[in-house]
Amino acid sequence: MTEKRPPRGFAYRTASLRNALLTRLPDSISFGSLRARHVRQPIEITEISLASAHWPRAFDGLRIAHLSDIHFGHLLGAERLAQAVDAVRAVQADLIAITGDLVDLSAQEAPLLFEHLALLRAKLGVFVVLGNHDHLDHPRAIVRGAREAGLVPLVDDSVRVGGRDGLLIAGIDWAKSIPHCAQRLRRCGAGRADLLLAHNPKAFVGAEERGIPLTLSGHTHGGQVARRGNRRLNLVFTERLSAGHYERGESHLYVTNGVGAWFPLRVNCPPEIAVIEMRSR
Ligand SMILES: [Fe+2]
Repeated sequence: MTEKRPPRGFAYRTASLRNALLTRLPDSISFGSLRARHVRQPIEITEISLASAHWPRAFDGLRIAHLSDIHFGHLLGAERLAQAVDAVRAVQADLIAITGDLVDLSAQEAPLLFEHLALLRAKLGVFVVLGNHDHLDHPRAIVRGAREAGLVPLVDDSVRVGGRDGLLIAGIDWAKSIPHCAQRLRRCGAGRADLLLAHNPKAFVGAEERGIPLTLSGHTHGGQVARRGNRRLNLVFTERLSAGHYERGESHLYVTNGVGAWFPLRVNCPPEIAVIEMRSR
């Protein structure tokens, strides 16, 4: 049964206006070349190996494919999504994490999005959290679509995989601030997670306090425009945790550039799929 679509509110209208002014208008002025150039950029695979004394020994060497910020819609359509899905499949990871902003604006095309995402398979599963863009239109339809596609949506929830003493994965819904991220993390319950999925990298502050060994996030898109050779110097440099790897004690955070965007420009900040190998020490 399809849930009743919630009324589209102020946030949706603001995002639509921004989309019209910053994405569709420049793209139509350039006769579609901005979009075409944008989706021609190769998706980079970033391989990184991280170690933590808190990472369970039974999962030493686990490989996680991290996909984020697809922003399915006008800029990133089915063809580009298929490329991203193929790239993730080729990595043959043990676990796949999708950290939000699956859609750009409307959830109407979610069935097509999930037709592609349903092709993702990993030994321990494919886990999904929502981002701020997933909340613009119909978040429940995204959660339902994920579940029907065989993915595991985590909405302030946690799940243990790989047996009774298995890996504890927590996932929080979109939250804007550090305290709200921490509040959502508390709702996940079930003790200290081994892996936290959170669209907003600000969740790392709470994750680090709890000693969670790995947090995966997106949201910033790596700033989309960065200085060559230093991804931290980017358009969202005011965010303390804007791009790449951060380490505090035994806790790690990886903030991916994501594969999609909400405006058709990336400079020294390629679309990215991260592959993280976790070691225990
Ligand atoms: Fe995003």
